[in-house]
Amino acid sequence: MPAERLRVLPTIRKAVFPAAGLGTRFLPATKAQPKEMLTLVDKPIIQYSVEEAAAAGIDHVVLVTGQGTKLVEDHFKINAELEALLESRGKGDLLAEVRSVPCPASISTVQQGEPLGLGHAVILAHELIGDEAFAVILSDDVIDATPPALRQLIDVYEKLDGPVVGVERVSADRISDYGIVDAEPVSNHAGVYRIHDMVEKPTREDSPSDLAIVGRYILTPDIFPILDTTPPDAQGEIQLTDALRQLLTGRPIYACEIDGVRHDTGSKLGFLRATAYFALKHPDLSDTFREYLRKVGVNRPAGN
Ligand code: UTP
Repeated sequence: MPAERLRVLPTIRKAVFPAAGLGTRFLPATKAQPKEMLTLVDKPIIQYSVEEAAAAGIDHVVLVTGQGTKLVEDHFKINAELEALLESRGKGDLLAEVRSVPCPASISTVQQGEPLGLGHAVILAHELIGDEAFAVILSDDVIDATPPALRQLIDVYEKLDGPVVGVERVSADRISDYGIVDAEPVSNHAGVYRIHDMVEKPTREDSPSDLAIVGRYILTPDIFPILDTTPPDAQGEIQLTDALRQLLTGRPIYACEIDGVRHDTGSKLGFLRATAYFALKHPDLSDTFREYLRKVGVNRPAGN
């Protein structure tokens, strides 16, 4: 078969969704449920990224969960009883809402008994991923983008045939909150960089660039043996970035500057901004919410 026709097959079919972090920044809301199930307007945070993955061609979702496993799993399963009830009551609009939740062709769950880090969460998905390249999506980075953020990374993977990390330019005062890449542009590929190194939370003075790693990755299966031998950090967590730095010694890794609007919903302020952003885009809410914001702004006491 000609190479061109083989290319039509999706190269990345599986995505890992780590959702087993403690979510301490949202306690007590995250005492009994993962932060990925907190609601942004009318959908849990994780639904935004599962929708993104589906739009990017992913058909096998691997959830890595800690507490609230069933809660996350059930959200992506058909709820026949609820559907029948809504149907019998003639609530077609609500039925459509319920049915709009993506139900991936295949969804698997693996439990992370203890939150031993993002790298550890990825190790746990190894058996389900097998020996193929795959995506990792951190749902708390909610990205509104066309084409979907993950699709942008997959396009780079398909062209350059190597692991890809999603990045975003951040302002100098936010550099120390992120992993930052030391990278140079790849010629003829706008927004794509070849990574030389990655530095975890540098000071703005020591930072090699303003390109911050965000929660989207395309990884190749050679990351697994490296993760297996990556030592835990001072907090006892296995960091994915440490394993990627090791992988860099043996093969090129690329950064893809994501073209879109990202919200870090893992922080309270980011969560509130995302809520306002999606409320203002919501067909039933945008006008009234805009009016509310205008009123709040007008009525705000001077100096606040
Ligand atoms: P964070 O660094 O945001 O940590 O994790 P966290 O525990 O979720 O939140 P805070 O900082 O305590 O408020 C980044 C991503 O990695 C997942 C999280 O669920 C989140 O999607 N993660 C982190 C795991 O799945 N397992 C871990 O052991 C750690």
